Formats: sequence, structure tokens, C-alpha cells
Amino acid sequence: MPSPPPAPSPAAFGLDLPALDARSAEHWQRVRRPEVLALFEQHVYGRTPGGFGQPAFDVLATRSDALGGRATRRLVRVTLPRVPDWPGLVLMLHVPNGPGGQPAGRVPCFVGLNFAGNHSATNAADVPIVADSEVARGAKASRWPFDQILGRGVAVATAWYGDIEPDSPNGWRRGLRGAAAPQRHEHDWQPGEWGAIGAWAFGLRLMADYLEQDPAIDPRRLAVIGHSRLGKTALWAGAQDSRFTVVVSNDSGEGGAALMRRPVGETTAKITSTFPHWFTSTYATYGDDPSRCPVDQHMLVGLAAPRAVYIGSAIEDSWADPEGEFLAGLLAGPVYEAFGLHGVGVERWPAVDVPVGHHVGYHVRRGGHDLTAYDWQRYVDFAWRHWRDAAAD
Ligand code: GCU
Repeated sequence: MPSPPPAPSPAAFGLDLPALDARSAEHWQRVRRPEVLALFEQHVYGRTPGGFGQPAFDVLATRSDALGGRATRRLVRVTLPRVPDWPGLVLMLHVPNGPGGQPAGRVPCFVGLNFAGNHSATNAADVPIVADSEVARGAKASRWPFDQILGRGVAVATAWYGDIEPDSPNGWRRGLRGAAAPQRHEHDWQPGEWGAIGAWAFGLRLMADYLEQDPAIDPRRLAVIGHSRLGKTALWAGAQDSRFTVVVSNDSGEGGAALMRRPVGETTAKITSTFPHWFTSTYATYGDDPSRCPVDQHMLVGLAAPRAVYIGSAIEDSWADPEGEFLAGLLAGPVYEAFGLHGVGVERWPAVDVPVGHHVGYHVRRGGHDLTAYDWQRYVDFAWRHWRDAAAD
């Protein structure tokens, strides 16, 4: 097979982006990656504080006959004993059963937050309804096709993002950020301190802490996934935490995979005025001129390298700038090339429903802003390809 073409330069698309400066794998890992990570902390998402100590896990329920006997389901509360005022998150794990009606061996796992409560992702009557969710049981089940995913030998863990922080400008007072802040509910957030996306991303990392020690899960095969604002969150979690060996962004748009320097769809000015709590306050200062921001989103993709990243777009989702999402993946290519790998490996935006990519996968599917069975099919294919290759190394 001929080698794919190297990533083109941003100038080929009329873009003037901050330089990746991916001189070599060694330089990237030791010097440039820590610099870029610090820039994203300072200018976009804020710094994730340390000092939380070890999480505690409390298995609330296990049943081995979920999904008509095809799965074992566990509900686990994850708390931080050093942050006693945060009630924790409830992780819902579905693991495929082997022929003996129990999980057999360790399987890979997709890890993602949901918008409306664990009950919204399943029709199972015994998953408790989250009191402050307005969404009915099973209403979002199409976004969580457990049978389809488990049928591929992969587990799925999800939790409600509202457990970590309710999604409103003052939600932090009722979430982890408020419970852990130095001045608690009186805290006056400073530039560089974390926003809600940072807190949600930390929640994903707490889920990984649990999964690493669950006997049914292979801790080297965790994929982090998220849709839309939770796709931004998945990218930020994947940038920070190398336990996520596959990172999946679905329709994540502005503040996610879409390049901020393209004034298409949602812009920095729009997102920071509607959702100021998602980011550190510095990000809003670039609203009138994103070209002053020292990073752009191709660098966020590069932070996950050499781990695999998949960016999914939808052609009718113009608010998320599908082509801008593609370009961030494409233009992260030099970081992968520094590792001797290929990124997206194409020269232009592919046609609808034609998945492409090597270490950076990409598709733009027909339809609108949603996480669909088609998307999951691509993500699970891609993840298996990388997990198998890594096992063969
Ligand atoms: C809004 C927001 C987007 C976000 C989306 C979502 O449309 O402007 O940035 O991705 O909500 O999370 O569904």
C-alpha cells in the first residue's frame, strides 16, 4: 500500500495557526507537549487542581441478567473522601456476558458522560431516575446502543454530567468545583482556574480510576467518548490522561475539535457569552479576535498523540463547523508524523459517509447533531483496530 501523504500546512487552507513545533517524538513528549498543555490550561479550560486524594468506590448494585442476560450491569458511586461535600457520581457499567452468563476475562471499555441521567440511556426499570433530570427513562437510549457495542466485545461506562456539576453559570456552587474550591461557595474564580468542562473531564478520569480496578475491564483499552459539549470534554480528558488510549469526539464543535480561527458556525465570542462557565475566564478575552489566542484546536488533538483520536462530524451540523473539525484532525498530523505514524492521511475533506484516517480517524455522516448507531459503529471499528495493533507491538 502506498504511504499516505504527509499532513498539508495550514496555509494550504488559508489558515494562519499557532505552530505545533513537533520536531521529534522525544522533543514533543519532553518539551512541547507540557508547554501546549499548560497553554490550554491557562487560556481555554483552566487547570485541574490536585490534592483530591484517592477516590472511593461503592458498588450500589450488580445484576448479571441485564439486557436480557447478555450483560452484567453495575452501578457504582465514585466519591472523593477528601471532598466530603461532593456527593459523587454514579457510574453505570455494562459488560458483555460470556457463555457462562458472567463477564469472561477483561474487555475494553468506552467511557462517556451522558446529558440527562443514567436512566435516560436505558429502558431498564431498575436504574434509578435522577431526581433533577427532566428527561424520561430511555429517552436518550438511541445514543447508547448497548447491545450493538457489547456485541463487539466492548463494555460501556457512563455517568450523568450533572452529578459532577450542573450545567449553568452558577452550577459550580452545587458541584465538585464549589465543594473543592478554597473559598467554597464564595470562591471568586480567577483566570486559569478550571471551568465546568475541566470538572466534567475530571469526572471521566475518576471513572477511569474505577474501571482500572474492575476485574471485568482491560485497563489498557479504555476509550473516552463524548457528544457535543461532552465531546469537548472527552477531548480535554483525553489530552490530559494517557489511560485513554482512544479519544473520540462526536460533533464537539467550538471549544472541541473545530478550529477557533475559522469564523464558521459557533464562534469563540458566541460560546463564551452563552456558556461562560464552561471555560476559564481567559478564553472569553479572545472573543473579538481568536487569532490572539496562543493555541488552536489542532494542538488539542496533538496532545493525545501518539494515542488514537477519532473526530466524528455530521453534515447538517453547521453550528459545529464540520469542516473545521476535520481540519483540526488533519492539521494535527505533524505530531503523529514525529512519532513515525500517520494522522488522517488524506488531502481534503472526505465525502459524506466515507470514513478516513489512520491514527486520527474522521467521518462526516449524513444527518444532524446527534450520536447515532452509525457513529458508534465507526468508533468501535476504529478502537479495535488500534487496540489490536497495540497488542501486536
Ligand atoms: C450548544 C453549544 C455547543 C454545544 C451544544 C451541545 O449548541 O452552542 O457548543 O456543543 O450546545 O452541547 O449540544
